[in-house]
Amino acid sequence: MTRPRKQSAVPGALGDLLSGLAAPGREAIVEGAVVLRGFALPEADRLAAAVAVVAVAAPFRRMVTPGGYAMSVAMTNCGEAGWVTDRRGYRYQATDPETGRPWPALPEAFRRLAAAAAATAGFAGFVPDACLVNRYAPGAKLSLHQDRNERDYAQPIVSVSLGLPATFLFGGERRSDRPRRIRLEHGDVVVWGGPARMAFHGVEAPVEGEHPLTGSFRINLTFRKAL
Ligand code: SIN
Ligand code: FE2
Repeated sequence: MTRPRKQSAVPGALGDLLSGLAAPGREAIVEGAVVLRGFALPEADRLAAAVAVVAVAAPFRRMVTPGGYAMSVAMTNCGEAGWVTDRRGYRYQATDPETGRPWPALPEAFRRLAAAAAATAGFAGFVPDACLVNRYAPGAKLSLHQDRNERDYAQPIVSVSLGLPATFLFGGERRSDRPRRIRLEHGDVVVWGGPARMAFHGVEAPVEGEHPLTGSFRINLTFRKAL
C-alpha cells in the first residue's frame, strides 16, 4: 500500500502545520483528518439538485443491517459501486438491489468537488467511484463505525455535509477511543485518510430544523474509491 503524498512542500508535521496555517477554514482533527469549512458552499445548489435527480432513479431507502435492524438514516448511491447492507452483510455492488438497475452515474460536479477537497487535504489524484448519499431526518443517527468495505485503504474518504447541521463524532482506531465532537454545517467537507483512514466515526441525530436547500433533512455525500 502506498501512503498518499502530502501536498505541502515541507514534509511531516511541520508541513501539515504550514499548510494548515496557509489555508483559512481548514481545521485539523488529527493527523490525516481535516475539516474544510464551507468548501462545498459554491457548489451546494448544484449538489443538492443532483441529489434530487439521483433520488428519482434510485430512491432513498432504509437498509437493513446484517443483524436485522432497519437503519435510521435513509440512503441511496451513485457511481459505479454503491454501498449496501442487508441480512447477507455490508458490501459494494454495481446495481441497486431495489430496482436491479445500475446506480445512477456519479455527476461530474460530484467528482470534481471530491477530487478538489481531497487534494486540498493533501490527497492528490483521488478519483472516487462510489458516492453514498445519506439522508438524516431529526432522530436519524449513525453509530460509530469504520469504513472498511473498500479495497484500498490508501484511498481517503471525502464527506460533504449539506442542509441541517449535525454533530460528527471522530474517534481513533479502537471503538473504545473517545471520539471528538465536531459540529458540521452546510457546505463543510471532512477528509480523512493516511494514518486516520481507519478511525471510528459516526453522526449524532440532527435536531429539528428547516434548511432552504434540504428542507427538514441533513444530506451527506460520502465519496470513496471502493473498487
Ligand atoms: C458515513 O460515515 O458514512 C457518513 C458520515 C456523515 O454522514 O457525515
Ligand atoms: Fe462512514
